[in-house]
Amino acid sequence: MEEKKMKNVIYLDHPLLQHKITILRDKKTGTNEFRRLVKEVAVLEGYEALRHLKTELVDVETPIENAKEPKISGKKLCFVPILRAGLGMVEGMLELVPSAKVGHIGLYRDEVTHEPHEYYCKLPYSIADREIYVLDPMLATGGSACDAVKLLKEKGCKNITFICIIAAPEGVKNFHEHYPEVPLYVGALDRCLNENAYICPGLGDAGDRIFGTVK
Ligand code: PRP
Ligand code: URA
Repeated sequence: MEEKKMKNVIYLDHPLLQHKITILRDKKTGTNEFRRLVKEVAVLEGYEALRHLKTELVDVETPIENAKEPKISGKKLCFVPILRAGLGMVEGMLELVPSAKVGHIGLYRDEVTHEPHEYYCKLPYSIADREIYVLDPMLATGGSACDAVKLLKEKGCKNITFICIIAAPEGVKNFHEHYPEVPLYVGALDRCLNENAYICPGLGDAGDRIFGTVK
């Protein structure tokens, strides 16, 4: 599969992650459990995506002796969920890095054209200098992901990573064509999009399932 060979696209295959994503897919999984699992999946994905964080040696006095041991250095991290569904991943990421800043980008997909529309953007000060992790459970056509990254680049951001839970091959391809330099972390690569640009088999509408607005 072409998408599997793209540089900077990282497929996560930890069995715990796959297990949790399978429960997310199940239409019988209710809002409460869905929300909890999205958070847990974000922790597992974030753990991998943050693997490259730099550390510096600091002095520490253990009960036994003095030592120089690693601590994360230069914590200018910012998590940017794409509203609404990305909000479900923020808590998990903040469990990993509680001091990170959080920005918000509001995008909704037009139900007919499937094109994303921006309706909100609030980002922390000196966003251009921060290491940014954009969060959205679903990468379908990739339109929302591309728009979010475009917006951040227009604000001068250079260090951007995108984390999604489920991706369609079409979305990965689109995103990679536009932003091959942006690392893309994917929890599961699905088969295709359907005629409504929903991911198959997917999990349905992530925002609706997180917030209980399923029609
Ligand atoms: C969903 C999802 C992504 C987008 C993915 O959001 O959370 O943002 O669709 O689709 P794309 O890759 O084709 O752009 P939606 O627009 O449904 O908004 P919501 O989170 O408020 O429900
Ligand atoms: N947005 C979702 O929430 N789910 C999809 O399958 C596609 C877009």
